[in-house]
Amino acid sequence: KTYRVAILGATGAVGTELLELLESRNFPISELKLLASERSVGRALKFKGENLVVEPVSDRALENLDLVLASAGGSTSKKWAPVAVEKGAVVIDNSSAFRMNPEVPLIVPEVNPQAAASHQGIIANPNCTTILLAVAIWPLHQVKPIQRIIAATYQSASGAGAKAMAEVKTQAAAILQGQEPVAEVLPYPLAFNLFPHNTPMNNFGYCEEEMKMVNETRKIFGTQEIRISATCVRVPVLRAHSEAINLEFATPFSPDTAREILSHSPGVKLVEDWRANHFPMPIEATGRDEVLVGRIRQDISHPCGLELWLCGDQIRKGAALNAVQIAELLVEKNLLKSAQAYISQ
Ligand code: A2P
Repeated sequence: KTYRVAILGATGAVGTELLELLESRNFPISELKLLASERSVGRALKFKGENLVVEPVSDRALENLDLVLASAGGSTSKKWAPVAVEKGAVVIDNSSAFRMNPEVPLIVPEVNPQAAASHQGIIANPNCTTILLAVAIWPLHQVKPIQRIIAATYQSASGAGAKAMAEVKTQAAAILQGQEPVAEVLPYPLAFNLFPHNTPMNNFGYCEEEMKMVNETRKIFGTQEIRISATCVRVPVLRAHSEAINLEFATPFSPDTAREILSHSPGVKLVEDWRANHFPMPIEATGRDEVLVGRIRQDISHPCGLELWLCGDQIRKGAALNAVQIAELLVEKNLLKSAQAYISQ
């Protein structure tokens, strides 16, 4: 069986990666539509050697589709995802618009694939930082429940889109030529700098990105019991995020046991060469499917604490790959049926 697929936001950082992954993973496609804003009219992108012309998203463009992979921002998803569902498609949405909606499954295929069965047309792809964390710590949580997570993130420019990535390069070039860097997409110069994540703050002093890690991790893990606190920071890296993670359990968790578990966990690659001081790095995570994990060690400040360090490609596993894996899961489980099909069952 093959499917009629559209990428909404096809010209963006995640959209172009979705296009590449649908091709390289040979997703069963009978027809592929590339949708973006009016700004992209006339652009063409290559898929399987063919030039596909980008169309502006509209009611008509969303007709006769089985699957829409959306990555065009929250307001675009809020507007168009319900339209696509109403017209019979299943939407896998990369924005935060529907993630915390109790009727919308929020899925990391390595963690909670079973949640896909209850979808009613929209499935949400989690926040990038949350996905990388979830893949790395779920196997440990399975063995011994995690009680508390303290995270510090080092997030790449790609999380703010293709324009932000281009801006960092331009800023770096300007600085190297002795000029002032210009920040238009990002709030401050990121090249040779870093700043706390630029999403709105709540009354407790946590930004939206930090609260996504708290709320989404709990939803994906299916528990409200885990206590989580995060500090999210943007760093001048192009497309892979890093995270320093402290986990607390009820009883000690030996680093060797954690290492053994993570050495054969799906979606994880252990990168630990203590002698050479070689651990996960964004440049080595870039373009890779796995979350790289290393520096697993006992927390010397707490007998039941475990420290680890991870890096993962934000555009790939943090966004596009996870979305394509959800699509593959739907195909495999015969769940790529429109909401209408469920209602009429
Ligand atoms: P466009 O290139 O036409 O602006 P990124 O996250 O890399 O910034 O990409 C955002 C993606 O979402 C792009 O493909 C962009 O298209 C698309 N997009 C942004 N706003 C809209 C909109 N209002 N309607 C449709 N697509 C949009």
